[in-house]
Amino acid sequence: MAKISASVYTSHVPAIGAALDLGKSGESYWQPVFNGYDFSKHWMTENKPDVIFLVYNDHATAFSLDMIPTFAIGCAESFTPADEGWGPRPVPVVRGHPELAAHIAQSVIQQDFDLTIVNKMDVDHGLTVPLSLMCGQQDPVTGAWPCPVIPFAVNVVQYPVPSGRRCFELGKAIRKAIESFDKPLNVQIWGTGGMSHQLQGPRAGLINKEFDNAFLDQLIADPEGLASKPHIDYVREAGSEGIELVMWLIARGAMADVAGGPAPKVAHRFYHVPASNTAVGHLILENK
Ligand code: DHB
Ligand code: FE
Repeated sequence: MAKISASVYTSHVPAIGAALDLGKSGESYWQPVFNGYDFSKHWMTENKPDVIFLVYNDHATAFSLDMIPTFAIGCAESFTPADEGWGPRPVPVVRGHPELAAHIAQSVIQQDFDLTIVNKMDVDHGLTVPLSLMCGQQDPVTGAWPCPVIPFAVNVVQYPVPSGRRCFELGKAIRKAIESFDKPLNVQIWGTGGMSHQLQGPRAGLINKEFDNAFLDQLIADPEGLASKPHIDYVREAGSEGIELVMWLIARGAMADVAGGPAPKVAHRFYHVPASNTAVGHLILENK
């Protein structure tokens, strides 16, 4: 059977992608950010998964305001990096895993979560920046990401957005789905976006280190309690885009301890301010 070996959590700041693509990662502004991922890139080579189930949000790129699925699962063979206004990022096409994605869609919908099935979709910085941070730069033509990726897009852009509780419960259902797939795949689940940031209005530039670090502590030790945090607390404390953090609860809900297994091992924890307008947070949790 397939198994979830670990969960990874990381911010997805688009300027990080630009810094990498334009060869600026060695600059003094960016160096502390990328230093925080040196461990992670090494860890990825030592703990290479067969598939990454990547929870992220689309930023009105694949889905415009014409159509806004709350939860969308990418079931295609491949996903092209999107043109977000400056041309597509020079990174490899993302290979999907249609067979596992279709199985997860079947199982999760049968567990009473309504998913939108997406058979054609471009992927924006929400998905490609976490891949770059964890896997390093890859040549767009001759290179490849280390394994297939199932994109799972969550609406955290246009209200109403799903609650942390619903995301956490969905993570439990995704775990059951993955662990009922009849092939011995090593699957990682990633929760991305966050941490505190607000991009517009009078509070633009808001960062809340205290909130972010308390969120990381509670995500590790008390995810069930964290799932009760109402959406308005994210917006008040972590800024309007801080709501992206509810996606981390999907990945956390899929970990073994939530289903009665042992507590995960914290393999890595990193926090840094600033990166563009965002606080960067990052965790790697391993199932024992
Ligand atoms: C920034 C952060 C985001 O999450 C995003 O989607 C766009 C911009 C920023 O920090 O500039
Ligand atoms: Fe974002």
